[in-house]
Amino acid sequence: MTTALEKPAISNRGRSVPASAIRLLEGNANAAKARGVHIYHLNIGQPDIETPEYIRSRAGADTIIAYTPARGTEAVRKVMRDYYAKLGVALESSELMMTTGGSEALLFAMLACADPGDEGLVVEPMYANIRNFATIGGITLKPLAAHVDEGFKIPSAEVFARAITDRTRFVMLCNPNNPTGTVSTPDEIRAVAEVCREHRIFLIVDEVYREFVYDGRKPWSALSLEGFDDTIVVADSVSKRYSACGMRLGCIATRNAEVIGATGRMAEGRLSVPTIEQQMLEGIADLPANYMDGIVAKYQRRRDLLFAGLTSIPGVELQLPQGAFYFIARLPVGDALAFSRWMVSSFEVDGATVMLAPAAGFYLTPDLGKDEVRIAYVLVEEDLRQAVEILRLAIEAWNEP
Ligand SMILES: Cc1ncc(COP(=O)(O)O)c(C=O)c1O
Repeated sequence: MTTALEKPAISNRGRSVPASAIRLLEGNANAAKARGVHIYHLNIGQPDIETPEYIRSRAGADTIIAYTPARGTEAVRKVMRDYYAKLGVALESSELMMTTGGSEALLFAMLACADPGDEGLVVEPMYANIRNFATIGGITLKPLAAHVDEGFKIPSAEVFARAITDRTRFVMLCNPNNPTGTVSTPDEIRAVAEVCREHRIFLIVDEVYREFVYDGRKPWSALSLEGFDDTIVVADSVSKRYSACGMRLGCIATRNAEVIGATGRMAEGRLSVPTIEQQMLEGIADLPANYMDGIVAKYQRRRDLLFAGLTSIPGVELQLPQGAFYFIARLPVGDALAFSRWMVSSFEVDGATVMLAPAAGFYLTPDLGKDEVRIAYVLVEEDLRQAVEILRLAIEAWNEP
């Protein structure tokens, strides 16, 4: 007979997988909602744009929802190949592998490039779920810092070169960046790719926000850099681009045949990516060429509104973000976690409050980002205006002697 004392112990890995930094205050937010408080969510990046009809109308009428090939259907890899070709990146279908969202692309890419005990270099603040994937793979992440007063530019090639050890297997970048909104130039990425090539390690680039670039910047992919076929592995997703997070489709794109081979075999283990959603994704072939223009313009207006509003609050520090739909701001509140928790639990204006993501969870180095928050701008402009006013009043109230 089993007693409670003999309960099997879960793995160290299972114990150390971190909870999501973005959902940290969810319990407090749910309690506030139960009291009838309206919450403006500046904490999470769920796009509010309609998924295009071209995609939604494509769901097939199969009588059997069958498995598809592990790497994705031929048809869907062709539409992805055509998408990349329009971006100026020539890829064979065999250089593209469909994944269950960008999340699985990141996980498989990391697992294919590094063994347990190996290291990967990341720039912090970083997309927090990377830590989750690294823990699953037993990979140690070594952070290099980017700073709010420098617009969170990625460190120079020399800084990356100095940080590489015998155990380093990859550098991971996110461009455009979540959570900072920083966009790196081709020269900046090329400089890091050169260091990686020289040290025979991989450069994994998360480009799930590729199209979300502002002020006339053009979308581009690190795969368009020449001479890095064996070095660069791109993780991509349809979630943000087509406002289709629930379709759970993404891909790994790389000309490194061994990486595609390894991640393909990992994919064979999980059999298939969603079948109906792949049929739906074929609809992107019909999207007008300027489909993203209006969406990007809308996000740019939201960014401008929020930037103007937040920089008018005394003590709030941020640089104008250049891409994605997030940024990190330093707030004059000392402890951003305590402030954010208090705001969502105890502060309201006309029955409404604001939920932020405290930024410490986006850093690996303890004590960094304590007075910073990540803000996502996926709300309509009027809601963003209200949110800024509530935040202004909350900061004033918090700082009252
Ligand atoms: C930087 C970044 N990479 C990857 C993902 C994963 O996206 P998905 O798995 O929905 O494709 C996200 C989602 O928010 C993200 O922000």
